[in-house]
Amino acid sequence: MAEGKGGLEDVVACDSEICFIDGKQGRLLYRGYDITELAGHVSFEEVCHLLWYGDLPSAEQLKQLRGRLAEARALPPGIIQLLRALPPARPMMTLRTAVSALGLYDPERDDNSLPACQRKAERLTAQIPTVVAAMARLHDGKDPVAPRSDLGEAANFLYMMRGAQPEPLQVEAMDMALVLHADHELNASTFSARVTAATLADMHAAITSAVGTLEGPLHGGANEEVMRMLVKIGTPDKAADFVRDALAAGQKISGFGHRVYRTEDPRATILRRMSHDLGERAGSTLYYDITRAVEKAIFEAKKLYPNVDLYSASTYNAMGIPTDFFTPIFAISRVSGWTAHVLEQYAHNRLIRPRAEYVGPGLRHVPATAGA
Ligand code: ACO
Repeated sequence: MAEGKGGLEDVVACDSEICFIDGKQGRLLYRGYDITELAGHVSFEEVCHLLWYGDLPSAEQLKQLRGRLAEARALPPGIIQLLRALPPARPMMTLRTAVSALGLYDPERDDNSLPACQRKAERLTAQIPTVVAAMARLHDGKDPVAPRSDLGEAANFLYMMRGAQPEPLQVEAMDMALVLHADHELNASTFSARVTAATLADMHAAITSAVGTLEGPLHGGANEEVMRMLVKIGTPDKAADFVRDALAAGQKISGFGHRVYRTEDPRATILRRMSHDLGERAGSTLYYDITRAVEKAIFEAKKLYPNVDLYSASTYNAMGIPTDFFTPIFAISRVSGWTAHVLEQYAHNRLIRPRAEYVGPGLRHVPATAGA
């Protein structure tokens, strides 16, 4: 097959008011707000409001949204039973099954109106952290912890993972990580959500597609691959040899390169700092130091810049999160962007149906002997 046509590189597939990326300057805006201004200044809940409803909330709107999210966090008992019954699997496989199942229990399952879909966006964003925390607890042979309505999204998620009140610095870091991962224009998982929504399939169908797409190591799964690589490298002084050997073997190094950015991903800049600070606080910057050494080696060899997944690995590790749950945490945040894009798709819908250039055999006739 001819190479080079795949990937839809630089193809504009829709108009969108949600997210702008300047790949040359390394800038990322959510509805006009620069990510570097949002991170550390607004909470994940405020970003959700911005993505879904077009603007940052007033104090009253934020209070209302926080209340609705807190109220929607608890899972239907059938979902917990399902999580207990499923065979052990990669968490992203379990998560996509659970997201699909949440659709069956949704109180507005058969209502695809805009207000119902907005409520589904809020419910899914509230429920996915509860699913991920329950999965992590069950994975460790522990019972799931019920959500607390007095905590924000980031604090409640960490609380449900551990069954104990998280430290303020960790809550702050988790909240910032959720803000940074919330949306990124037509990345692969968001595109798949929009393709599904464009058939007028329901919100849960679209988000199930998105979770399935996020899992791959070329996309959201890269943060887990980065952590496995850091563990394998072991110490910063071995990073240069590792990079040289991997590149010589024609391997891609997870956490580097991007389809859109031609300079450093602005999220990586913020996560680099977070990774360092959390590592120091946890008493070891080993994985931060190895990441820095890998970054230096790969820049010298190929002039490649880090993407969002590079420093999210050591950041989550310093927070004590098991590696297999890094990509589900990405989903906890990105569901806000996916659902915002699905709402936008429904509002200006046209079926997404590209063409393929046919390069197979010319017209053939079935031989008379076939099927004899
Ligand atoms: N390691 C080594 N070389 C790389 C890397 C990498 N991580 N990324 C790109 N390159 C090289 C390619 O080998 C190619 O070099 P060549 O022209 O000499 O052959 C060139 O850079 C262009 O790379 P492509 O693969 O064509 O770029 P594409 O836009 O198709 O892929 C992708 C982008 C998938 C992100 C790629 O950079 C990659 O595989 N990175 C590693 C996985 C990763 O970190 N994914 C997360 C992305 S961010 C996100 O989804 C949340």
